[in-house]
Amino acid sequence: KSYNRESHEIGKFDRISGLIFKDFMKAERIMSLNGPLMMVCVYASMLLISWMGARQIVASGNNAALGLTTGDLTALVTYAMQILMSMMMLSMVFVMFIISQASAERICQVLNEESTVTDPARPIMTVADGSVDFEHVSFRYGEKSEKPVLDDIDLTIRSGMTVGIVGGTGSAKSSLVQLVPRLYDVTEGSLKVGGVDVRDYGLKVLRDQVAMVLQKNVLFAGTIADNLRWGNPDATDEDIRHACRLAQADGFIRELSDGYDTYIEQGGTNVSGGQRQRLCIARALLKKPRILILDDSTSAVDTKTDKLIREALRHEIPHTTKIIIAQRIASVQDSDMILVMDAGRIAAAGTHDELLETCDEYRSIYESQTRNQAQPEGLQ
Ligand SMILES: Nc1ncnc2c1ncn2[C@@H]1O[C@H](COP(=O)(O)OP(=O)(O)OP(=O)(O)O)[C@@H](O)[C@H]1O
Ligand SMILES: [Mg+2]
Repeated sequence: KSYNRESHEIGKFDRISGLIFKDFMKAERIMSLNGPLMMVCVYASMLLISWMGARQIVASGNNAALGLTTGDLTALVTYAMQILMSMMMLSMVFVMFIISQASAERICQVLNEESTVTDPARPIMTVADGSVDFEHVSFRYGEKSEKPVLDDIDLTIRSGMTVGIVGGTGSAKSSLVQLVPRLYDVTEGSLKVGGVDVRDYGLKVLRDQVAMVLQKNVLFAGTIADNLRWGNPDATDEDIRHACRLAQADGFIRELSDGYDTYIEQGGTNVSGGQRQRLCIARALLKKPRILILDDSTSAVDTKTDKLIREALRHEIPHTTKIIIAQRIASVQDSDMILVMDAGRIAAAGTHDELLETCDEYRSIYESQTRNQAQPEGLQ
């Protein structure tokens, strides 16, 4: 609607529908020949049986001892009819089978696709703590792509630390954190969680301990409680309420007419962007993970609520390692360590005060954000 492309899109849909219509017409035309052809066979067989039968009856004088009788012929006709009708059904099933085979092949293509990220032969089943170590990690999305997205990253995050990540769009912030729950494998170097290479863990074990709220968060059709139980199917109602209180979602959920049983449409279209983000944070918290990654997860939440979420995380789950990607410096200002990413490298790392002194880029981002806030609206 906003791009005024309705007629174009309708045209596109018409064209594709036309192609499907043509293909189906072709298939149906061939299929419609099947009926008459089978009928010709059926009646030809009937005629043949009647003619041969009649001749034999005449020859035997309708005497059972000498050959065929009229009773035998009637039985013969009935049996033949039954066999031919079954054959006709079979031919129809055969045609349907051929049509569905084309669809089945395409579905199987998807089902048989092997993931490149697999469990090791002898997986380690416990994650010792929430520390994360990047050792000379390089990463590229495709084998053929020339320039690595992440280039020689060295980074140590101690268990329980809060780490903020800032940087321009496309500076590979999301790519960096996606390696921790092993959504992708590193191309070079090694990434350790709890002192063990992530490739040595069982995938389920690792992903149960590393909760990640994706930049593009997704809710599914179902009640709010159903959605939150994706994080932990065994969570009690009290667990759910606790997680929602931490994510500052409890308040707005209580105001909804059905509370935690409110129905969420597919994709979460009937809640606001900020509400959706808070539900996704609550869902991740329900896992009680050792490492919590928030990828730009409070971008649509107002600054006051954002602060309340950070304070709740700090006080209620102090031993969980928190990695927070944000556009607003205020969201990461109080972290134990802040990383400034630039084109796939860590340009600077340190606390807020250290970076303000040593990193020009950080200072300029900080100043541009604080200046904007201080300026009256008319001057911007
Ligand atoms: N699935 C993908 N396949 C191929 N290349 C990708 C993929 N996702 C990201 N990239 C590339 O990797 C680079 C880093 O992207 P990334 O999403 O990590 O940036 P980002 O710092 O999270 O940006 P933003 O602040 O906009 O979220 C970009 O240049 C992008 O083109
Ligand atoms: Mg990103």
